[in-house]
Amino acid sequence: MKCKTIEFKDGVLKLIDQRKLPGIVNFYEARTYKEVEFAIADMVVRGAPAIGATAAYGVYLAALEFKDLNREDFLVKVFEADKELAAARPTAVNLTWAIRRMEKLLKANQDKSRDELLSLLLKEADKIVREDIEINKKMARYGNEIVPEGATVLTHCNTGALATVDYGTALGVIREAHYSGKNIQVYADETRPRLQGARLTAFELVEEGIPVTLIADSVAATLIRDGKIDLILVGADRIAANGDTANKIGTYMLSELALKFAVPFYIVAPTSTIDFEIVNGKEIEIEERSAEEVTHIKGVRIAPEGIKVYNPAFDVTPAENITGIITEKGIVLPPFREELAKLKG
Ligand code: MRU
Repeated sequence: MKCKTIEFKDGVLKLIDQRKLPGIVNFYEARTYKEVEFAIADMVVRGAPAIGATAAYGVYLAALEFKDLNREDFLVKVFEADKELAAARPTAVNLTWAIRRMEKLLKANQDKSRDELLSLLLKEADKIVREDIEINKKMARYGNEIVPEGATVLTHCNTGALATVDYGTALGVIREAHYSGKNIQVYADETRPRLQGARLTAFELVEEGIPVTLIADSVAATLIRDGKIDLILVGADRIAANGDTANKIGTYMLSELALKFAVPFYIVAPTSTIDFEIVNGKEIEIEERSAEEVTHIKGVRIAPEGIKVYNPAFDVTPAENITGIITEKGIVLPPFREELAKLKG
């Protein structure tokens, strides 16, 4: 992608404002952890790996803000800020994963001078950013092994450079297949209500000239039934220890169709998206977002005043509907509980 999703320079976190894409390419600047928290909650930045990397800078900015406090107050304030950052969006585990990683470093180095500690925290956030790109490239290479020549691939939501630091998870595999000359075609679900597919996935693929057809979410069933889809690739926001996977609302429906019509259904996610602390998907907290996301489009009301709305942002795909999970450590096949456990640590 031409623009960077996340960039930290001279104390400022610069994020491409994904609320305004594709029409307006604008940048949001965060100088405080509160501004970072807002950016995550309001979806200036979104996508599990991207919000993890963003939150890492949020922790750094909190430490910078409270750096002149005595050690005890400093730690209390930074940990309070971390809690606020972690609560900005509850489903994607990458958010708490990145915050915990920063906190671990902070605890281990609390005796160092404040300047030294700040420098270590900034380096760690930068490292998370660098690692994310490397991990995506690895997943893309593993994932490309299961993409047939000339395949038509269906994807949901946005799992690309915009959802990560760069390249993407499921969209990273799609990129890799395209650039390795496999002559693939992509169908992108529009992904109501936030339209990440129409606004963001289409933006990325059109920019790079990767053949893509945009469809309303409800078209997917017809395409799958008619044998027009060879492979479904999606990302993940949290994977339970048994392989149950939370991803953008609508993913579960696709997985049921994939099962019924024997279409391979793969999750592409870094191991930081696996939550080994939960045994299955029932324990995953599903974020519910505002009614306005459903009742309005670009500020224009499309449903009557007073209508009741149910707007979960994610759903859980049961492990038995998943063909495989593509990670940076390789492709994990069932039985997921046993096979995922091997990736721990
Ligand atoms: O609500 P969003 O846009 O943050 O949801 C994003 C998704 O569900 C993605 O599929 C997931 O984070 C994986 S992204 C690499």
